[in-house]
Amino acid sequence: MVTGAAGFIGSHLCERLLAEGGRVLGVDCFTDYYDRERKERNLASARASDRFELAEADLGTADLRGMLDGVDGVFHLAAQPGVRGSWGERFEVYARNNILATQCLLEALRERPVPLVYASSSSVYGAAERLPVREEDLPRPLSPYGVTKLAAEHLTGLYAAAYGLAAVSLRYFTVYGPRQRPDMAFTRFLGAALAGLPLEVLGDGEQSRDFTFVADAVEATRRALGAPPGVYNIGGGTRATVNESIRVIEELVGHGVEVRRREAVRGDMPHTWAETSRARERLGWEPRTTLHEGLAAHLAWARALRA
Ligand code: NAD
Ligand code: UGA
Repeated sequence: MVTGAAGFIGSHLCERLLAEGGRVLGVDCFTDYYDRERKERNLASARASDRFELAEADLGTADLRGMLDGVDGVFHLAAQPGVRGSWGERFEVYARNNILATQCLLEALRERPVPLVYASSSSVYGAAERLPVREEDLPRPLSPYGVTKLAAEHLTGLYAAAYGLAAVSLRYFTVYGPRQRPDMAFTRFLGAALAGLPLEVLGDGEQSRDFTFVADAVEATRRALGAPPGVYNIGGGTRATVNESIRVIEELVGHGVEVRRREAVRGDMPHTWAETSRARERLGWEPRTTLHEGLAAHLAWARALRA
């Protein structure tokens, strides 16, 4: 089972599992955070397989016990993502889709304890005291979104310990590549660069991210099912500032871009940088894609989207 199957990372994961010859039950309720049409496109390739089935259902209300019948592992990626929009009234959506929905899934798993992988986030760390961050560092989120991702991670650990679930939480660090969500930096930057519009940089652009290419994140996710329980950093090893990433984009599109500076947004982390030796040792995983290669693939997808 893949929850959040119609989303950016979930749809790639479904394809990966189908390519291995497995059967996949995708679950998604097509939240209105971004266009349904975009999510349908994400799913097109998986839907072409007769080993793929989609349940259009909300984890908060669905009969999950029934759905888990015949399932031998769960990848839980469904969530309300996005750091900057999690303040104010919208927090209710974050609490519902990230915390309450996860608790419903965990309750259903009590009765059918199959291995679980939960998609956590680098946003749980907040303003780290030391870099790179290690899994044992004290998480202190800077955004309400990060608080909900951490709460669900704790719930996952709690149910795992109480009911003997084999559960792994992966703290993904800013994932990018084809199908990246429309609210995220690289999809916005590449779309603007191709349209000849200014790129909007939040703050001075000197904030840095340990950008992770989606195929690398998916590979780690696949390896995590049934792996030694606990929390793992999944960072791409291609740390760059926003300004540096814009220089790579200029190189790839073959021309300079205009940058418009906007005020920094509350909740954005100044820097992220993952220490990934745990994932290397226990999952046998390492990121393989350079920022240049990954952005070239992202650009090709952004071009196709405009065609
Ligand atoms: P996405 O929004 O593209 O995909 C999430 C999907 O979950 C959506 O299709 C949405 O419709 C679905 N969904 C939301 N609430 C649901 C519910 N209650 N029931 C059923 N379906 C529901 O997001 P993404 O970028 O692919 O992120 C996937 C996961 O990875 C999320 O848990 C996110 O918090 C986490 N994550 C993402 C990144 C990143 O850089 N993209 C980084 C760290 C963590
Ligand atoms: C991303 C995802 O959106 C979160 O869902 C996820 O949990 C998080 O990664 C994570 O790693 O945990 P973020 O790092 O904010 O969050 O990803 P981007 O939207 O790609 O932003 C990267 C940087 O670019 C941020 O510093 C942001 O301020 C900046 N940015 C973003 C801009 O300068 N301009 C924009 O138009 C968008």
